[in-house]
Amino acid sequence: MDAQAEALDTTEWTRKLLAHFRSPRYQPPLLPIIAVEIMALSQQREASTAEIVLVLSKDPLLAAQVLTRAQSSAYARGNETRTLHDAVMKLGLRVLRNIVFEVSLNTRVFQAPPGYTEAMERLRVHSVATAHLASLVARRTGQAQDYAFLAGLLHDVGIAGLFIALADLPNPPPLTTAWPDILRFHTEASAALAHLWRLPRELQGALANHHGLTVNGDPDPLTATVVVAERFAFELAPLIGKDPSTPDRPRIMPGKDVSAGPVIQGACKLLGIDAPAFAALHAEARALLASVLG
Ligand SMILES: [Fe+2]
Ligand SMILES: [Fe+2]
Repeated sequence: MDAQAEALDTTEWTRKLLAHFRSPRYQPPLLPIIAVEIMALSQQREASTAEIVLVLSKDPLLAAQVLTRAQSSAYARGNETRTLHDAVMKLGLRVLRNIVFEVSLNTRVFQAPPGYTEAMERLRVHSVATAHLASLVARRTGQAQDYAFLAGLLHDVGIAGLFIALADLPNPPPLTTAWPDILRFHTEASAALAHLWRLPRELQGALANHHGLTVNGDPDPLTATVVVAERFAFELAPLIGKDPSTPDRPRIMPGKDVSAGPVIQGACKLLGIDAPAFAALHAEARALLASVLG
């Protein structure tokens, strides 16, 4: 950082960062077209296996990665999954949609600008962990939450967007300096990307409010699910496995990103998670992360 950059205070960086993020010059990360089309198919009606395979086949590289993910231990149960057709038949459209989003984020959205590789990898791990944990919390609290996995996966996507905006600026500050501002504005940035990507309304609401409990003034179980899942991810993800990019260091985010205690307690209350249920979920969460991240 040069002398001029050092002279700028945090408020000035915030102004510059937000001005760039909101400007037409900013090029936000885009979802691959097959993620957009699979989301549309999953919302509209019962799509045929052939239609789903056709959409996936438009991007062979991404399709191959989806297949590899579908074969991984987190999803592979029962018969072998050799083709996209097998994957659709075995997993169903909604699980496949979640995998398409996971692969799309890993390969296309969480692409770090120079200097942000480690921070982006930690954000990716935090997001994948929160996604799987949000599914678990939804299942164990008896919710028929179609979007729990995606809400967990995408909740902090605004952080990726702000990393990219920050790297575009001349002489950006180090992440340790910029982190408080990134944290302050990341829900707004997640909401902006959710809107740009035309995600379903429920997902947009959860992403925009994921450190609170309400959407448009009403308690929102999907948002509460993300709050609880993130709480487990924050504590447990650094303890599991090794980060291939930095195996000597724990997998923690570049800064603290977890809801305040009263918000977590409110989320548990809203979802009917009492102390014994919380302890049981904690044990399950640890085992699940070991299989997903281990
Ligand atoms: Fe967050
Ligand atoms: Fe988070």
